[in-house]
Amino acid sequence: MKRISLTQYLIEEQRLNNSIPAELRLLIEVVARACKTISHAVGKGALGDVLGAADTENVQGEIQKKLDIISNEILLQANEWGGHLAAMASEEMETIHPIPNRYPMGEYMLLFDPLDGSSNIDVNVSIGTIFSVLKAPEGMATPTEKDFLQPGTRQVAAGYAVYGPQTVLVLTTGNGVNCFTLDREMGSWIMTQRALQIPADTAEYSINASNARHWYPPVTRYVKELEAGKTGPREKNFNMRWIASMVADVHRILNRGGIFMYPADAREPDKPGKLRLMYEANPMAFIVEQAGGAATDGKMRILDIQPITLHQRVAVFIGSRNEVQRVTEYHAA
Ligand code: AHG
Ligand code: MN
Ligand code: MN
Repeated sequence: MKRISLTQYLIEEQRLNNSIPAELRLLIEVVARACKTISHAVGKGALGDVLGAADTENVQGEIQKKLDIISNEILLQANEWGGHLAAMASEEMETIHPIPNRYPMGEYMLLFDPLDGSSNIDVNVSIGTIFSVLKAPEGMATPTEKDFLQPGTRQVAAGYAVYGPQTVLVLTTGNGVNCFTLDREMGSWIMTQRALQIPADTAEYSINASNARHWYPPVTRYVKELEAGKTGPREKNFNMRWIASMVADVHRILNRGGIFMYPADAREPDKPGKLRLMYEANPMAFIVEQAGGAATDGKMRILDIQPITLHQRVAVFIGSRNEVQRVTEYHAA
């Protein structure tokens, strides 16, 4: 079989469809290289002294793990000097990170969740990195947080890496979704799946059911109907999976369908869910839509939400189209 590397794919895509300008191609290659470095650190585990908690909290008040900080640093350092970016923003940094003056400034802005699924790091369960790419607004001089506050429809690229039994990179630039597997011996990303498509129907769902008592009625109704199986209103049995790493759950959905939910609930009525819009929900929604799936916050398409702050949270219903549509309709009922 002919092996197509990430580099060859990007260059051919640039030539054929003109969908990837040279600067964006460089950006994607640099992020992919950073993910390779993170994968290496993850793979070392205890041998690399990367497990366990750091002594710090992030802006969301969550205890940071060592790997959260290491991955954040790897992405920052890899992306600072290439001249392709104007600024970066991350789950692990309260404020945006403009490119230092000593480097040239590019026209793109990068957002990331450096390490998704932090609670799984120390127990050797799949974790990942999520990223989203926006264009700097026309005429921007010094980047500010405001420049990042663009709806997900404006993303020019999005992707994620999963550090699991294999390390994979899933990527979209708005022209379908492709998957690359890291060849660890060669150190290169090789295309292993082309034009991924999520089936519209599914018999698999993902939700942290330990929060059931806090759910709002539309979510309770939807999940109860799934649980009722063949003799219930859906007249079909459903299976449940919850990895507690959104990247890994969405990767499964991309491969065999499913619906992933992290709803808002009554635990913290002021917070619209747990996941963050700009570097978790938006990139995943872009990828899933590009693969024929759907993503809403229960009321509207995630990609249409106008962000108000960098770290804002959002409820997420994402995956197989018909199931996302159904649970969204229950919210309107
Ligand atoms: P992060 O590790 O970046 O903070 O994100 C974790 C998120 C998401 O990946 C996962 O689906 C969810 O939190 C798990 O939440 P529970 O702990 O409620 O299961
Ligand atoms: Mn995350
Ligand atoms: Mn994270």
